[in-house]
Amino acid sequence: LEAAARRVEELVRLVPDFPEPGVLFRDITPLLADGDAFAQVCAALAVQAGGPVDLVAGMEARGFLLAAPIAVHLGAGLIPVRKAGKLPGPLASESYSLEYGDATIELHPSTIPAGARVLVVDDVLATGGTAAATIRLVERCGATVVGLSFLVEIEALAGRAQLAGHAVHALVSVP
Ligand code: PRP
Ligand code: MG
Repeated sequence: LEAAARRVEELVRLVPDFPEPGVLFRDITPLLADGDAFAQVCAALAVQAGGPVDLVAGMEARGFLLAAPIAVHLGAGLIPVRKAGKLPGPLASESYSLEYGDATIELHPSTIPAGARVLVVDDVLATGGTAAATIRLVERCGATVVGLSFLVEIEALAGRAQLAGHAVHALVSVP
């Protein structure tokens, strides 16, 4: 885990004032482009689950890039949690506020059996709005979120407080 955390620190590029002034964007493309680092980081995120996982939920768009290889690594299924308007119905939808703007995310409840054990994966935990909305969607299906795994947690934005009662893991936590 330590080695994977170092790769995240080395390869996630910090971009000030993107996409808006005052936002420090974390660009994961250099990490994705390094095959060894990408594999190491996905394996580390998968291990953080700590128990059996039936499904991995990844949030559009950057969460998809991590959730899919982690699902394959765990032998689990994949739930793409999409931004509004991308999936045909029947749908479950949840809205939330983001560090920049508002958003709605959606999934197909028919793909999540009641009682399924779901690992939620995304690149960054910021305000926690995206992750909290994903938890609400999964729980509305009668499934259980067994953990949430992130590459980077931004402590100042207090996302973890929105995910109280859940096992939250981040490879790297920054102030
Ligand atoms: C970013 C990031 C997380 C979310 C974290 O996604 O990838 O999903 O914000 O923020 P929060 O904890 O405050 O909800 P974004 O919605 O910018 O879009 P993208 O993944 O499609 O690039
Ligand atoms: Mg995202």
